[in-house]
Amino acid sequence: MIPNVLTIAGSDPSGGAGIQADLKTFSALGAYGMSVITALTAQNTRGVRAVQVMEPDFVAAQIDAIFDDVRVDAVKIGMVATASVATVIAERLRHHAACNVVLDPVMLAKSGDRLLREDAVAAVRDRLAPLARVITPNLPEAAVLMSGGAPATTEPATLAEMRQAVRTLHRIGSQWVLLKGGHLTSEDSTDLLFDGETITEFASKRIDTRNTHGTGCTLSAAIAALLPRHDMVEAVRRAKAYLTGAIAASGRLTVGSGHGPVHHFHALWTEDLAQ
Ligand SMILES: Nc1ncnc2c1ncn2[C@@H]1O[C@H](COP(=O)(O)OP(=O)(O)OP(=O)(O)O)[C@@H](O)[C@H]1O
Ligand SMILES: [Mg+2]
Repeated sequence: MIPNVLTIAGSDPSGGAGIQADLKTFSALGAYGMSVITALTAQNTRGVRAVQVMEPDFVAAQIDAIFDDVRVDAVKIGMVATASVATVIAERLRHHAACNVVLDPVMLAKSGDRLLREDAVAAVRDRLAPLARVITPNLPEAAVLMSGGAPATTEPATLAEMRQAVRTLHRIGSQWVLLKGGHLTSEDSTDLLFDGETITEFASKRIDTRNTHGTGCTLSAAIAALLPRHDMVEAVRRAKAYLTGAIAASGRLTVGSGHGPVHHFHALWTEDLAQ
């Protein structure tokens, strides 16, 4: 059966991150994609110019419209923008007993622009994370989540520090933690997956490219697309392989002059199609 997968996130009109990246990822990995929009952004590969957040009631109405009609096999949560939007998402997902929730606790865009209000961190940590099968912070987000509202503690900067950090992050309440190592300076870009007992490492060679717009969105969307058909370790392994291929093929696209997007359809578009 083809899985129905929902993303709850912000719109990136340049198509490389957010809702647009999520729907491309679902489609590339054989899932039927659906989207609830939390915020509109005016952004491109260079940065975010403006953000317009949806009314929380309207976010709830979008979620209810889907769950009242469609079987939802997995949910990816990305940009939630404000505490009230995060709270309403948690409340509606709990009401509908949503399964396979993947929470990407997005705080900053690749350009450094803020996508989550500071006062919303507590709602993400206390209300959304406990609903999640897996949370997927990057290293700066991990520091903010671990600091418990105080100014961020220093970021994990080595694999040894990441191994410590996943244990702390797991106490927030998700079933699994995937701590992403894209921000490491090491030769490998290694992510750590932890279920409270065992740490599994997913290493890939760091690809030398500026085209990393939406890597985090793409990875979390890929996990959501794969979870209805695979266990967590296998879903993450496949998601990471898909993303690595998409980063490696990003040079086939010519989109913008900043951090360009990854190639979501790298395995599907043959040379013929590209002519
Ligand atoms: N240059 C690279 N080469 C290979 N893999 C990478 C590279 N940069 C990031 N990754 C991988 O991409 C995924 C996303 O990691 P990262 O830590 O960059 O997330 P992020 O900061 O949330 O991304 P985003 O800014 O798009 O939200 C991880 O699996 C990471 O290992
Ligand atoms: Mg991210």
